[in-house]
Amino acid sequence: MRSVSSAERSRLLGALGIEGPEGLARALEGVGYLASPRVALGAFLALSLERPLLLEGAPGVGKTELAYALAAVLGSELVRLQCYEGIDVHQAVYDWDWGRQILHLRTLEALARGAGRAVEEVEAELFSDRFLVERAVLRALRGREAAHPPVLLVDEVDRADEAFEAYLLEVLSTWTVTIPEVGPQVAAVVPVVVLTSNRTRELHEALTRRCLYLWVDPPGPAREAEIVRRRVPEASERLARQLAHIVAELRRVGLFKPPGISETIDWAEALVRLGIDEVDEAVFVDTMGIVVKGRDDAERVASLGVGAILESRGPGDARNR
Ligand SMILES: Nc1ncnc2c1ncn2[C@@H]1O[C@H](COP(=O)(O)OP(=O)(O)OP(=O)(O)O)[C@@H](O)[C@H]1O
Ligand SMILES: [Mg+2]
Repeated sequence: MRSVSSAERSRLLGALGIEGPEGLARALEGVGYLASPRVALGAFLALSLERPLLLEGAPGVGKTELAYALAAVLGSELVRLQCYEGIDVHQAVYDWDWGRQILHLRTLEALARGAGRAVEEVEAELFSDRFLVERAVLRALRGREAAHPPVLLVDEVDRADEAFEAYLLEVLSTWTVTIPEVGPQVAAVVPVVVLTSNRTRELHEALTRRCLYLWVDPPGPAREAEIVRRRVPEASERLARQLAHIVAELRRVGLFKPPGISETIDWAEALVRLGIDEVDEAVFVDTMGIVVKGRDDAERVASLGVGAILESRGPGDARNR
């Protein structure tokens, strides 16, 4: 197990001009991800210490996107492992291609009939790399280029069972997986690992201890407006700012499903399509379904008053900039 950052990793970050959190924030901005100083700091430490980064936060705050942005910055492959209940080693790490193995066996039977090959010899051939199906974790451990360490995104790890979580912890601690028929597979290049969780359950303490932890807050209106402008360049600055303020207010009033950044982007896109540059009460009511999803939440907004939400400038303007 490696406990200190490798010289290789420092060299890599140095070569990319990422000497510290600000450098990383600039690099992320270059690929379209606007990180808060706290997120840039957490991600920088995880990269340079070669530690997995565990991201928690409300839906749509940019957890998954951060992994993609890091891969883009590093010029690395992103390997995504989407977790779900019941996920196991054969879906996450490796499997055997049974179908091809059986075909191979049939062919061998035909060819070797009378040639006297030992059963063991034939069997050993079946459990070789040729028939190994690499799943996300194994793929990420098999990266060979130190200059482009694979980025393994373990998305929504809280959906997996605890047994799988324990297995994952083992992998993240040793950078090794053992395939019984083949032997241990040790990573030559430590991958960059980003785990995300929506907190549908508490993660095991041992896993959180292994990771650097980052709670991702929604961006403040200024940053969100900037994100909207990047994603929807046709939206005017004024519209982007107005939408960011309204969405910040909607997040503040305690909806069951507060809108994420994707909703703000969708809203901007929709309004641009409709040729609308300002949200008034009528526009809000007509297009609210893009950001407020669900009847209870729509009723809550109606009871607070659309006008009041539009007018509010919210207390959180300077938050998380
Ligand atoms: N900091 C950011 N800079 C630029 N775009 C962002 C940023 N954060 C989020 N986005 C945009 O918001 C969208 C939603 O983000 P993402 O899917 O990463 O959220 P999430 O936190 O993973 O949500 P969930 O918990 O629902 O999976 C992304 O597709 C991206 O376009
Ligand atoms: Mg996500």
